[in-house]
Amino acid sequence: MLANALFPGSFDPVTNGHLDVIERALGVFPSLVVAIAKDTAKSCLFSGDERVELMRKSCEHFGDKISVVGFSGLLVDYMLQENLGTIVRGLRAVADYEYEVQMAQMNRHLSEKIDTLFLAAGERSSYVSSSLIKQVARLGGDVSGMVPAPVAEALKEKFS
Ligand code: PNS
Repeated sequence: MLANALFPGSFDPVTNGHLDVIERALGVFPSLVVAIAKDTAKSCLFSGDERVELMRKSCEHFGDKISVVGFSGLLVDYMLQENLGTIVRGLRAVADYEYEVQMAQMNRHLSEKIDTLFLAAGERSSYVSSSLIKQVARLGGDVSGMVPAPVAEALKEKFS
């Protein structure tokens, strides 16, 4: 079994729901790598570098327990190269389940050294998603309670 855990995602942008998963994962693992997929299938509002920067700013309060990285290519290749064994993902609702289990099984097919651990989203953030945040922000809605302050500011700039 490979040591240490990684929380991967597009994080376009990071939300308070993601931060909740990070905080709770730190109750299970002593440290966590947050890995931002630079070339994702989704068309992103923020560039890879912007998403890494926003995550770094949003995770400052966790100190050196968190390291934020950007990665390209297959997630399992990155993890094997960095000696990381556990993928952490948050599950919000039944709607997430199919996509998440499919990814977990594909990753397990690609490498049996890697397993996925799911954390149930906290009820306060279970309705928060990056895509809804972008939709609300684009239309001028207030997203400040749902995203970290640097993200709220960056969204304002993007849509001003
Ligand atoms: O936040 P998302 O978009 O749901 O995260 C999906 C992500 C980035 C974790 C997934 O698309 C991924 O791992 N991409 C890297 C390429 C890869 O390994 N694809 C196969 C995954 S089964």
